[in-house]
Amino acid sequence: MNLFRIDASIRREGSVTRALADTAQAGWQSRHPEGTVTERDLGIEPLPATAWREAALAMGGTGTESSAQRQAVGLAASLVDELEQADALLLAIPIYNFGVPQHVKAWVDLVYTDPRMRPRATPLLADKPALLLLARGGAYGEGSPRHGWDHSTPWLRRIFEDVWGLDLRLNAVELTLAETNPAMESLRGKAAEALELGLALALSQGEELSPEPAQEQVA
Ligand SMILES: Cc1cc2nc3c(=O)[nH]c(=O)nc-3n(C[C@H](O)[C@H](O)[C@H](O)COP(=O)(O)O)c2cc1C
Repeated sequence: MNLFRIDASIRREGSVTRALADTAQAGWQSRHPEGTVTERDLGIEPLPATAWREAALAMGGTGTESSAQRQAVGLAASLVDELEQADALLLAIPIYNFGVPQHVKAWVDLVYTDPRMRPRATPLLADKPALLLLARGGAYGEGSPRHGWDHSTPWLRRIFEDVWGLDLRLNAVELTLAETNPAMESLRGKAAEALELGLALALSQGEELSPEPAQEQVA
């Protein structure tokens, strides 16, 4: 069994998404002690910003691609290999500037250029179990002043669930900036509670990150 993990936080220390992913990974490993973990750290080692342009221009393959285009096509193929070879996915993604981190957008865009990801009846990654771990500095729930401002989660769900067909489970921890933002001091208790709940949930979600058992056939 192979677990593929994506990290996207730009920081190592104090990262909530990394803590959630570490915990979920530990849960998965407790159920799959022989399993391997493959990691791609988009936050610390972003993909080259020009790769998508080169790969997108080479789509369709005329045989006259430049060496930069061939290189980008090869990179996209290796990204899709990582996804295809995984039995389960951990996707640890913070919100930045009310949206998806640019490094994650670059990764999704590049993945899209690979011919295996073209629309088809059964998408390449259909039904693969995936755990989306999210951290938000603020709060966006119904009734909060910024309800509707989170443009990251809906887009990520659109891609992972609706386009790639992943069997997606979610875990979002909010108010992560309360600890360091004086304006959010009154929310610190709530934030600590949210983090504790998120970590506990991540552990059980990691333990259960397996394909759904096939429906029993009744004769
Ligand atoms: C440049 C930057 C922009 C951010 N923008 C937002 C934002 O728009 N909304 C929000 O709720 N939090 C925002 N945050 C806070 C992060 O989402 C929060 O700190 C989160 O915990 C980061 O993930 P990490 O803990 O894994 O590093 C931002 C943080 C940074 C550094």
